[in-house]
Amino acid sequence: MARLEGYGTVVTGAGSGIGRAVVRRFLAEGANVVAVVRKQSDRAGLETEGATVVVGDVSDYDTAERAVAAAVDKFGRLDAYVSNAGLWDFHKRVEKQSPDELQRAFDEIFAVNVRATLYAGRAALTALRETSGTLIATGSNASFLAGGGGALYTASKFALRGLVMQLAKEFAPNVRVNAVAPGATDTGISGPAALGQREREMNADRERIAAMTPHMPLGRVSVPEDHVSLYVLLASRTESAYITGSMLLSDGGLTMSV
Ligand SMILES: NC(=O)c1ccc[n+]([C@@H]2O[C@H](COP(=O)([O-])OP(=O)(O)OC[C@H]3O[C@@H](n4cnc5c(N)ncnc54)[C@H](O)[C@@H]3O)[C@@H](O)[C@H]2O)c1
Repeated sequence: MARLEGYGTVVTGAGSGIGRAVVRRFLAEGANVVAVVRKQSDRAGLETEGATVVVGDVSDYDTAERAVAAAVDKFGRLDAYVSNAGLWDFHKRVEKQSPDELQRAFDEIFAVNVRATLYAGRAALTALRETSGTLIATGSNASFLAGGGGALYTASKFALRGLVMQLAKEFAPNVRVNAVAPGATDTGISGPAALGQREREMNADRERIAAMTPHMPLGRVSVPEDHVSLYVLLASRTESAYITGSMLLSDGGLTMSV
């Protein structure tokens, strides 16, 4: 039996990686999905698979507002908003960034990794209150420990954990706010333009992926599909009715063993 039958949902970062896998799984679980992508070329395949696409920059409030409106207009309801879009920093060390790069890269990374979830909560709250729905962010092992990226990424993902907790407190009792925290995942995650990382893709460097493997207690780097059941669990109001303010690790044991 489908676990999200008739749910109205939004997923950001839906053009690739974890977001793309969440869209596929939500559709398979009977949900209607608004897939938010950064650019037109990222929409390929999403509509034929059954999603409604919104193109926009999640740094802009307007994108969250348009995504919520699309769900309410098309599906008549919003049950779950997955704020998943993210930027990494390829472990760029602070001393290797000029003060100007630091400022611009900080603004870019925090706008996507933190501010977009704040905007999502603000834009979706009224619609989520109507369904006793839920906001779900994508955290990281870097929300718990140093070493999952550079200072900018780690700071942003720690900030996101605080934001999830605070929004959970403010939106209770009828809107739950949680996050999934994946560990190293084989995706093409990119970084900020300010560091020249906009077109760089993590998993294009197969040596980097291979070098991560020995650090994984479960013996492999994950793939996006490893994490999607947790998004279904957190989206389902029957299966996770008593979970709010949580960030559920899906990191192959990385965090416990560092
Ligand atoms: N890949 C990993 O190892 C890993 C580990 C832990 C957490 N995460 C988190 O998982 C989430 C998804 O990343 P992924 O690994 O699937 O990488 P990905 O690059 O495949 O997905 C991220 C998506 O976010 C989108 N995006 C980036 N900036 C945007 C913007 N300004 N506006 C709209 N969309 C934007 C990208 O276009 C992309 O589709 C991120 O939040 C990331 O921090 C990834």
